[in-house]
Amino acid sequence: MDKRKQAGEVTTDFDILDPDYNQNPGPVWRDMRERCPIAHTESQGGAWVFTKYDDIQALVKKTPELSNRQPTVFPMQGDKDLLADYFADMMPPLTKDPPEHAPLKRLLLPFFSMKAVEAHRAYTEQLCHGLIDGFIEKGTCDAAEDYARQISPRVIGYLLGVDPGQTDQFVDWVQGFVELGAADYEVRAKNFRALRRFLDDEITKRRSDPGEDYISRLIASDIDGEPVPHLMILNMCMLLLVAGVDTTWSSIGSSLLHFASHEEDRQRLVAQPELLPNAVEEMLRLHSPASAGRIAMENVEHEGFTFERGERLILSLPAANRDPATFENPDEADIGRERNRHVAFGVGIHRCVGSNLARLEMEVAIKVWFERIPEFRLSDPDAVTWSAGQVRGARTIPVTF
Ligand code: HEM
Repeated sequence: MDKRKQAGEVTTDFDILDPDYNQNPGPVWRDMRERCPIAHTESQGGAWVFTKYDDIQALVKKTPELSNRQPTVFPMQGDKDLLADYFADMMPPLTKDPPEHAPLKRLLLPFFSMKAVEAHRAYTEQLCHGLIDGFIEKGTCDAAEDYARQISPRVIGYLLGVDPGQTDQFVDWVQGFVELGAADYEVRAKNFRALRRFLDDEITKRRSDPGEDYISRLIASDIDGEPVPHLMILNMCMLLLVAGVDTTWSSIGSSLLHFASHEEDRQRLVAQPELLPNAVEEMLRLHSPASAGRIAMENVEHEGFTFERGERLILSLPAANRDPATFENPDEADIGRERNRHVAFGVGIHRCVGSNLARLEMEVAIKVWFERIPEFRLSDPDAVTWSAGQVRGARTIPVTF
């Protein structure tokens, strides 16, 4: 039988934007992994969908033939030619393939080394305490909106040297672009343009008034002796916002949701705070926020299937992190899990630049919360909502304490 057709028949209706799927994706991933690990869906412009750890490890190595020029999990609406070169310039290094990718990634890596991000711990702690000060007396809050969602945009704004007074606006644009815009092309385009205009101005300002921030440091950097072009800096800043904001707030939010609804784990972390680093990794594994997208630049073979030029692939990192072939009891949380080689930050040449910063933000956010609010629980499980699309995370988490 034609394997492509067979795959298509099983899961043509997989839809990454389906609210029911997003509410509880575990059973869908299990079913796909067992019945059709290489699936093809017609939804959202059509894509091959991968749910197995080993498939994803193999596919990320097939570069540049599986390209990152459009790393979204569904086509940007209105874009006729999915293979067009201009996509590759949009968010370097994420949208670049070899050989252009490596030198651009090298520009960013020093900003996010463990040592470099450690310098931002004190700011992040102070930020988390300040947020909790704002609601602790009430004995109730939305842990997503009042806490998780406020942390990562402020940290990135601070790193880029953005005036703290403008961070709220920043968050709205980023959310409009990456989240609300996922299902609405107009919303996405409007917020995309607003973000670009804002960053364009910021770069111009830093040229005459440099500081220690990342924009100033990118202006002072070079690629093989040549200054980094203005447009490249702008596009890199766009990427830092898009890649570093809702991914991280999703992970912080999903972690708090987990502890608010799993009393034993909450008590265990209170009793054994030294488990925090393992708990962070386990939350990243069990509630991985980001999926990756690839687009075939030529016909590519894998396990007897052929992905044709122009076809899109969704690498479900969250599903891979629950693959029983790699993880014991994959659908259960074990906050003391020792061996945890999850792929929440991706794998291969595009592995996340900001993973040290994301881990620091998660660790600080959970630590400060547990210090200030060790006893808390979900007040209304039915009120919990999730974002859909490339980045999945809890968006409403009503808790009492
Ligand atoms: C929990 C939080 C985060 C998660 C789960 C996450 C996940 C990912 C994933 C899966 C990729 C690879 C995408 C692909 O292969 O197509 C990636 C790439 C990237 N991430 Fe993150 N990320 C997080 C936080 C951050 C932060 C805080 C920053 C920076 C401020 C950041 C910056 C980047 C950049 C620049 C890339 C592109 C790397 C490349 O193309 O070589 N991320 N991230």
